[in-house]
Amino acid sequence: MSTAGAGLEGVVATTSSICFINGEAGVLSYQGFNIHTLAENATFEEVVYLLWHGKLPNESELKSLKSELTSERELPAEVIGFLKSVPKATPMDVLRTAVSMLGLFDPIAADGSDEANRTKAVKLVAKLPAIVSNFDRLRNGKDIIAADPNLSHAANFLYTLNGKRPDDVMEKVFDVALILHADHELNASTFAARVTAATLSDIYSAATSAIGALKGPLHGGANEAVVRMLLASKSPEEAVQKAKSDLANKVKVPGFGHRVYRVLDPRAVHLKKLSEELGKRTGHGELFEKSARVEKAVKELKNLNANVDFYSASTYYSLGIPVDIFTPVFAVSRIAGWTAHILEQYRNNRLIRPRADYTGAPDGQTWIPLEARR
Ligand SMILES: CC(C)(COP(=O)(O)OP(=O)(O)OC[C@H]1O[C@@H](n2cnc3c(N)ncnc32)[C@H](O)[C@@H]1OP(=O)(O)O)[C@@H](O)C(=O)NCCC(=O)NCCS
Repeated sequence: MSTAGAGLEGVVATTSSICFINGEAGVLSYQGFNIHTLAENATFEEVVYLLWHGKLPNESELKSLKSELTSERELPAEVIGFLKSVPKATPMDVLRTAVSMLGLFDPIAADGSDEANRTKAVKLVAKLPAIVSNFDRLRNGKDIIAADPNLSHAANFLYTLNGKRPDDVMEKVFDVALILHADHELNASTFAARVTAATLSDIYSAATSAIGALKGPLHGGANEAVVRMLLASKSPEEAVQKAKSDLANKVKVPGFGHRVYRVLDPRAVHLKKLSEELGKRTGHGELFEKSARVEKAVKELKNLNANVDFYSASTYYSLGIPVDIFTPVFAVSRIAGWTAHILEQYRNNRLIRPRADYTGAPDGQTWIPLEARR
């Protein structure tokens, strides 16, 4: 048996046809479609179909996916009751618990057939945005806003969150942000989802595992940390000084570095553009200015590139999304990739069960009675 390096770096753990990354060249594609092509041309609904089916939907396939998604946007009453009961809880904890509850109240939760799993994947993609927006409104003492079936996935989320239908630009920006976050090969949360699915546990359990993994600051939690860092500085100069002192003290600057990319994360290119455009439009230009200055300084000092979380932070802020739901919003998008990977795992399953290189005491230790132990 050979031992993998720390953090399984460089280990190829499965085959998958969903997502391709070349970290040296900065290439990312979903089912063979380059992320730049998708960001410029696709809608999030088309990307969901592409991730699940390996091909772009034709008109009737897209229409039927959209109608399935819009018909599944409502939450079970029990889940709404739960959201009302925890106004002070951390949004990621609420999301993780509510997704687990969806399984509890879905009569087909335990049905492991392809058809049932596909139906449950639709439910998950449709209902995650409702969990996040309904929770945010309820904790602020506001009424829940009913989904509008005429709105796209992206527009409906912003509408049910802010109570205002977004204009075309805001809708487009959020739609592109959803596309850019939709999948990323065997990132920690997707791997967690696949490990759970590989035991032939149900799709809700696998999605719950993924949300738990996404929550951490080394993964999806970074976007929130980025905006808190930017908001804590009064000026771009102060933001740069803070980043420099973090680097000098060997403290990690959120939104930089990546396990796979050695060049600029291709998603950051789009998010930077969106952040700049939206910042100007919404009066948050200084946040973009701070971001751009910090990016330059960190690159010069430590040769570290911005990752997907760095510019998604200022983009989400300019969209009026509350800071503590940035990571749940990441999940609203990544559920597309998680479900694609879970479905792929079920289709060609083998239990995922690696080994550990044992470093403990040798076998055969002498048993000491409790009263004799020191
Ligand atoms: C993403 C991340 C977890 C990858 O981790 P990893 O592949 O295990 O890389 P390491 O943490 O071992 O970092 C390698 C080196 O780069 C440095 N580094 C990596 N990310 C850094 C960051 N954000 N700020 C400062 N230094 C960083 C490490 O200190 C280390 O330097 P050293 O070799 O001098 O000790 C890591 O870059 C990180 O913690 N980034 C900040 C959190 C973040 O933005 N996460 C979202 C990822 S999409």
